[in-house]
Order: sequence, then C-alpha cells, then structure tokens
Amino acid sequence: MKPILSILARRYIAGETITDAMSAAKQLYGDGLLAAIDNLGENVRDEQSSLAAVREYLKLLDDIICSGVRSTVSVKLTQLGLDISDELAFQNAEAIAAKALSQNNFVWLDMEGSAYTQRTIDIFLRLRKDRPNVGIAIQSCLKRSRADLRLLIERHACVRLVKGAYKEPPEISFKEKKDVDKNFEIMMRELLLEGNRPAIATHDPRLIEAAISFASERNIPSKDFEFQMLLGIKRSLQKSLASRGYTVRVYIPYGTNWLPYTMRRLMERKENIFFVIKNIFD
Ligand code: FDA
Repeated sequence: MKPILSILARRYIAGETITDAMSAAKQLYGDGLLAAIDNLGENVRDEQSSLAAVREYLKLLDDIICSGVRSTVSVKLTQLGLDISDELAFQNAEAIAAKALSQNNFVWLDMEGSAYTQRTIDIFLRLRKDRPNVGIAIQSCLKRSRADLRLLIERHACVRLVKGAYKEPPEISFKEKKDVDKNFEIMMRELLLEGNRPAIATHDPRLIEAAISFASERNIPSKDFEFQMLLGIKRSLQKSLASRGYTVRVYIPYGTNWLPYTMRRLMERKENIFFVIKNIFD
C-alpha cells in the first residue's frame, strides 16, 4: 500500500529536503502567496530525534532568511519530544522560537490529537511569556475548543483555526460535519472580532466567503487576519483570494516521514480513499 500512498503524497508534500520546501515556497511567493513550512515528523520516541528536529528547524529558519521568501515555520510538539516529557518539548520549542524571534520570524504550533490538547496549550502559554512570536492551532471539532479559544483570546494569542484532522472519541468531539462547520463559524467570528491576527485555515469556500462577508460587515480590515491552506489543495482558490487582496499562507510540509500526514489527507477526502482502493484492486 505504501507505493500507492506515495503517489498521493506527491500532491500534498513538497519533497524530502529543505531545498524542495524552499523551491515550493518560492514558486508560491511568485503567485503572491506566503508560506508556513513544516518538517514532517511526529511522536518521536528518543531525545536524539527531537534534537535532530530542532537542528533541522534552525537550518530551515536560516534558509528562509537567505531565500528572501516570506515564510514562517510550523511545528508539532510530539516531534520535539512531547511523548518523552513536557520539559523536553518546551525546551526544544523554546530554542526554535528564540531563533525565529531573533530573525523577526514566527512559529506556529500545530495541534495534534486530543490526548495532547491541554499540554500543547500549556506549553504554548509558557512559551509565550518570553516569545510573542508563537501561535497555536485550535480545532473546531472538539467540544472544549470554544472555552480554549476564550482563554487564548484573553491572552491576546495568535490562533490558527482549523476543523481538526484526528479521529476523536464522540464524548469530546462533534461527529457530524455540519456541527464541526457550525462551531468553526462561531469561533471564526469570535476570532475576527477579538483575535490577534488570526488565521482562518480551511479550504471550505462557504466558510471563507462567510469570513469575508463578516469582516466586511464589521469593518475588519483584511490586513488583520489571514487565510491559510495546505499545499496541493484548492490552488486556484488560494491564488484568487490573494488576487482579491487577502493574505494567504500555504502550509508546506516536507521530509521523509510523510506517511502519517498523507494518511490524514487521505482520510478527509472520500475520492482519495476510492483512489487507494481502486489501485489496490487494479
Ligand atoms: P473540509 O474538509 O470541509 O473541506 C473543504 C473542501 O476542501 C473539500 O470539499 C475539498 O474540496 C477540499 N479538501 C479538503 N481536504 C482535502 C484533501 N485532503 N484533498 C483534496 N481536497 C481537500 N488539523 C489539525 O488537527 N491540527 C493542525 O494543526 C492543523 N493545521 C492545519 C494548517 C492549515 C494551514 C490547514 C489548512 C489545515 C490544518 N489542519 C490541521 C487540517 C484541518 O484540520 C482539516 O483536516 C483540513 O483543513 C480539511 O478541512 P477543511 O477545513 O478544508 O474543510
């Protein structure tokens, strides 16, 4: 099955190296799009691997400066050692955030499965005491997220709103897509009204137009928020929003550990599942 998934991965992943990621970022920049580059990796089990991830991100930050493209970075705390200890993940994230701050750059913390939600928020708030250049993703699929969002808005945190890509237990999450979308819209309005340069991260054209209408009704300038989308999804929408004057940032994953990310992209689209099944039986 891995060879079939590798075909699918090519759509969503820039390649295996920093050079691949930088060339994707340059191409997007030429189309008026910004980037957030992610070195693929999660759930590392040993400290050495977490330190290797830090070194990779420090190099990535240097390469972003040299390239002249406008790109932030996006990290997962389990790649930085959260399964080993909170302290290790914090220290590693702190090293990346400190370097990014010295270069006037920004670090997004991705949000992983619900087992990590509270610890990710706690580490984020701790980081933010000295590193204002850090933002956090929050998932509208989780029932707790509206309360989390209130706290984050009170702390003037920079939030990336997403629907959520992990399979979650029904007791703590919305199971119906319409409820996830409804919660997204409510949280999106709160962020647009009260958030600190929020990122509306979705490919859902209805929600994107709802954000635009809401911002225009409330006289919220387009420079006060940004749209974010994933590499390989809705490319023409990305470009058309940028040409309408909106800030659009594309999340660019790269690296050799592409399987978990590709599986999440597979599971959120039934056409992808059909593609894999068809190729298995062909
Ligand atoms: P929805 O699933 O309703 O899709 C809307 C439309 O987009 C679909 O109809 C289809 O046309 C297109 N589309 C969606 N997924 C596609 C796919 N895989 N292939 C092709 N087309 C597709 N999640 C998380 O849990 N933690 C995180 O930190 C992040 N970070 C993140 C950053 C950024 C920049 C984005 C855009 C997304 C994330 N996500 C995430 C993923 C997010 O939670 C969600 O799984 C995906 O964005 C898909 O949901 P949509 O909002 O696009 O809506």
